[in-house]
Amino acid sequence: MRVVVAGATGLIGTALLPLLRARGHHVTALVRDESKAVAADDTVVADALDPTAVRGALLAARPDVVVHQLTALRQMSAEAFETTARLRTEGTANLIMAAREAGAAKLVVQSISFATAPLGDPVLSEDAPLYLDAPDPGWARTVQAVAEMERLVLGTPDIAGTILRYGTLFGPQTQYDPAGPFGAAIGHGKVPIPETATGVTSFLHVQDAALAAVSAVDSDVTGVFNIADDEPAEGGTWLPEYARLLGGPPPRPIPSDVAEKALGWFANYQLTAMRGARTDRARTELGWKPTVSWRRGLASG
Ligand SMILES: NC(=O)c1ccc[n+]([C@@H]2O[C@H](COP(=O)([O-])OP(=O)(O)OC[C@H]3O[C@@H](n4cnc5c(N)ncnc54)[C@H](OP(=O)(O)O)[C@@H]3O)[C@@H](O)[C@H]2O)c1
Repeated sequence: MRVVVAGATGLIGTALLPLLRARGHHVTALVRDESKAVAADDTVVADALDPTAVRGALLAARPDVVVHQLTALRQMSAEAFETTARLRTEGTANLIMAAREAGAAKLVVQSISFATAPLGDPVLSEDAPLYLDAPDPGWARTVQAVAEMERLVLGTPDIAGTILRYGTLFGPQTQYDPAGPFGAAIGHGKVPIPETATGVTSFLHVQDAALAAVSAVDSDVTGVFNIADDEPAEGGTWLPEYARLLGGPPPRPIPSDVAEKALGWFANYQLTAMRGARTDRARTELGWKPTVSWRRGLASG
């Protein structure tokens, strides 16, 4: 099949291109900076937020499938989250409009598994409600953009939509790379742990994220799929273990009432309330399963 990958220069995109080509697909990389090298059969150039450029790029590429791996999350700033929200709403709408015009039959789109509301079981399925009314305005905006993106993809007539809700990414060059921002802070004992750290994180290695996208491209099944490793872990489990694997001191315990101030809203939420992701649907319907658990891969970069 002819496959366009938007976000081809990203961590997941870079892992994905050779996997798709090895499956015999003709892969076109959609990039915004022509000077960045990509291992694709063809390259088209467009800023995903420019509808005219995206239209021209997809009309030139004539894809059967469009894979959307666009984020601005290499930086973890408020601006990067806002740009990512725009990529998820405007960028997705641009890709859908252009994909329809270019005659594509399928969209495979990166989403997140940890946008669910912190209600009920510690590990939730794809049917759980999203945290649209999160008390943190930045996180509410992120979740609302995710919901809008998923609505656009699943509601597009004539094009089959597959949403891959990725867990928290780890692996080389991610935030959790031992040399990355979180890895370095945790390894140096700079991340304290709230006294009740029962929030659950479902991690996902970048390579497994790319393999899930290949399964989605090759499958006739559509819908929403959580994609994460086999070991959803409470903050009280993974944070001390990650510090130990990095050779750092155990995280310093802090009382719950000062944890949000010390950690920031999201990290405190992740460690105390966030829910993990069940992946049964991806296993049974997509035929995908994770190959690396955070316990083996988190500290190896
Ligand atoms: N995915 C998530 O939900 C999430 C959440 C938290 C943290 N992270 C962090 O994000 C990093 C990896 O994730 P990733 O592979 O999803 O992201 P990534 O490596 O940042 O890749 C994003 C891709 O989107 C492209 N892009 C961004 N804006 C664009 C635009 N306006 N037009 C066209 N292309 C555009 C980038 O192109 P350029 O190369 O031109 O920039 C790049 O190819 C890790 O550090 C991870 O820890 C991800």
